[in-house]
Amino acid sequence: MSAPILLVHGSAATLAEIRAYLTAHLEVDAVCSAQEARRRLHEGDYAVVVLDGQHPDLEGGRLLAELAAAAPDALLVLLNVQEEAAMALEDLAPGRIFRFLGGSGQWWQLPGTVREALRLWRLEREQQDLVRRLHSEHIKLQRREKLLDVVVRERTRELELAYERLQAAARQAILGLAEAIEAKDAYTKGHCGRVAVYALTLGREAGLSGSELQLVEFGAFLHDIGKIGIRDQVLLKPGPLDAEEWAHMRQHPLVGSQIASQLEMLKPLVPCVRNHHERWDGTGYPDGLRGEDIPLAARIVCLADAYDAMATDRPYQRALSPQACEQALRRQAGLQFDPALVDLFLTRGLGTSGQ
Ligand SMILES: [Fe+2]
Repeated sequence: MSAPILLVHGSAATLAEIRAYLTAHLEVDAVCSAQEARRRLHEGDYAVVVLDGQHPDLEGGRLLAELAAAAPDALLVLLNVQEEAAMALEDLAPGRIFRFLGGSGQWWQLPGTVREALRLWRLEREQQDLVRRLHSEHIKLQRREKLLDVVVRERTRELELAYERLQAAARQAILGLAEAIEAKDAYTKGHCGRVAVYALTLGREAGLSGSELQLVEFGAFLHDIGKIGIRDQVLLKPGPLDAEEWAHMRQHPLVGSQIASQLEMLKPLVPCVRNHHERWDGTGYPDGLRGEDIPLAARIVCLADAYDAMATDRPYQRALSPQACEQALRRQAGLQFDPALVDLFLTRGLGTSGQ
């Protein structure tokens, strides 16, 4: 690296004198002509340029502007400049003139001034390096963030796909269980599926969220899972049940909730399975819950279950007409069923749309 200070003075004698004065402490290049000054500045990396303000080539400050342009990072110290001329010269190299010196005191001020300028130049360089390093780190961070973003998006998509596969497998398992329930009794064939359609449509009309609707749908499919534990003589009996048989049949919500509570996947369905025979007036079973104490999913499935039982042929009863179904639901609103759900079911024509 060349010397960090360039001294430009029109007089060779003064130049030598100042150079001798400065080189006691600093490394200095010294030139007389403007042409040589330009060449040095183009070739070297100078921190400070000391320029004679009375230099014959300075004419109107053109040289000053040229030197400032040739070494845009260098700081300028101007000698022999009167205060009134300083302002005009400052405009020619905005922000680059470190100090004007003039009068008889300028010579002893010069070494200290140049050292100060040198310190400032080094500080500016350090600051520029710091900004460059920060910028480079910032870009690296941005790249890492983008990479991380891509990785996170990929992992999220993988998780979503895995979850979708799991959901599909859960659905298959639940449909398989529902088929197993129906396989015991040919007359209930298709019952669980229809109850699920009614319950899902009613749940949607009641404003349930996506996950709540899924619980209602699965709960509807499996509401009678406890019938697996009911004796065939009772479950398949073509005639009316006696008191003991009814007591046994009424165990199916409890048996169902015990089965569901054993499987992590079915645990959320327990309220629906256990309480689908509760009645709005509190006379249902197994817990005798009343009104809104009955879980909403169970109230929905209860209505959908009863409606399908009325609207399809059974061994001991022909299907009721739509009008008779409607009358039966209205009669039981507030007794067996949640009256708001009955209203919703009938006013939206859900029974007919589900069939
Ligand atoms: Fe049931």
